[in-house]
Order: sequence, then C-alpha cells, then structure tokens
Amino acid sequence: MIGVFDSGLGGLSVLAALADVLPRADFIYYADTAHVPYGEKDDLFIQRRVLAIGNELVADGCTLLVVACNTATAAAVQALRDAHPGVAVVGVEPGIKPAAANSITRKIGVLVTPSTARSGRLQRLIADHAQGVEVRVESCPDWATRVESLNLDDPELIADVRHRITTLLTWGADRIVLGCTHYSFLAPVMLPLIAGKASLIEGADAVARQTQRLAGCSAQGSGRLILKASAYPERLRAALPALGLEHLAARLAPPG
Ligand code: DGL
Repeated sequence: MIGVFDSGLGGLSVLAALADVLPRADFIYYADTAHVPYGEKDDLFIQRRVLAIGNELVADGCTLLVVACNTATAAAVQALRDAHPGVAVVGVEPGIKPAAANSITRKIGVLVTPSTARSGRLQRLIADHAQGVEVRVESCPDWATRVESLNLDDPELIADVRHRITTLLTWGADRIVLGCTHYSFLAPVMLPLIAGKASLIEGADAVARQTQRLAGCSAQGSGRLILKASAYPERLRAALPALGLEHLAARLAPPG
C-alpha cells in the first residue's frame, strides 16, 4: 500500500501520475482539508500535521509514503523520514534542476506558496542546481485555496495567473516551474499564454519515476484507491471530474 498526501486536492495531480506508472499498486490518498492551505502556515504546524498523517498512513499499512506537496516536503520531509526509518519516503520539489538545465534564455520562473518561497530548502535547491541561471521566485498567496474551492473559472484568479505568467515572460523566462502541486490544475490557463515562448515544468512525473524505483512489493496489489480527508471526505470523490481525473474513480474501493 502506498500512502500519498497533500494539504488538499493538489496532490491528486501527483496521484494521477503515480497511478499511470503503478497500475497494480494500492493507494491511500489523504487530503488534510481541515488545515489547507499549508502555504500560509509556519513550519512547526506543517511538521506536526505531516507527522500525524504519516503515523496514520503507516498504521493503515502503507509501506511507502509520497509527500505530494512541495510545502510539506520543504518543511517536514526530513522529520517524516526520521520518524519512520523503515518506510521509504518520496517528496516533491520544484523542478529547478531540469528547468535550469534546459533554459535557453538562462532565466527561469518558479511559482510557489509563501511558505515554500521562504524555505531554506528552496534556497538550497537554487544554490545547488541553478548553475548560474537566473531564478525569479513568485510567491502566489491564495492560489491553492482557490483551486481547493474548485472555482477554476474565477475571473480574479485567472487575471492573477495571467498577470504573473506575463510578468515572467516579459522578464525573459523560458521555463516556468510549478512549485506547488495545486498549480497543475491551473495549467490550462497558463499553456495558451506561454505557447511558443516557454514551457511548464511539473514535478509529478519525476515523483512517479522515483516512486516506481522504490516501490518493490508496494507496486503489487489490486489497483485500489482509498480516499481519506481530515474534513469533508466526500468532497474528494466529487472533485475528481472537476479536476479532469474521473478515471481515478474506477480504482475506488466500494464503500463499506
Ligand atoms: N499543494 C501544496 C504544495 O505543493 C501546498 C498548497 C497549500 O496548502 O498551500 O505546495
């Protein structure tokens, strides 16, 4: 059993990539909807939540944990690894490395939550992997909360996304890193703006490959999915079609 978690719906973008490469694996997806957004909380709070969720998923029988949240990875992946030395833990990080390696203009933009923006882990990633490429970090308060409300057509949200993308393009970025798993669901707004000028870098495929490498016998199951949430668990199933992930519903274990 593989446990995948996020503050809310964002990690479903990672779960979709995991389900593609591990069709027989059994998954529990946990959304911490009682505490979303993490991006506006302090590190200690996020660490407490990550440890509590990790304990619950391990008690449920998970032998591999995927932190499908950049903010939780930056704040708490080490604490989670320390708490469960026998469990493989995969985190998700903004794709600075591939973006920098492939940038022609040598300028990349990174869209992240406020918490990730101020994290030492992001600063280290940039220092270790930017290789002289200029990095502009955009903290995007509210985006995760708005994705969470599934109001993806909200004109205010669309205007803000357009404004930030246009700013990055005008500055010269040719790679735009989505440093929050919720932002994958805003890609349909971004793609027409960046067409021919820049590409989006998402972390989900890299996480899926790394999880596949570590999965071992966790890859073998009956392809089931259990959805759990700290508040409004029924919203998770209902969100799948709105997020273009209806195909995941076929994996859901029958209730009871
Ligand atoms: N989805 C999370 C991430 O990847 C954070 C969203 C939030 O709760 O602020 O950073």
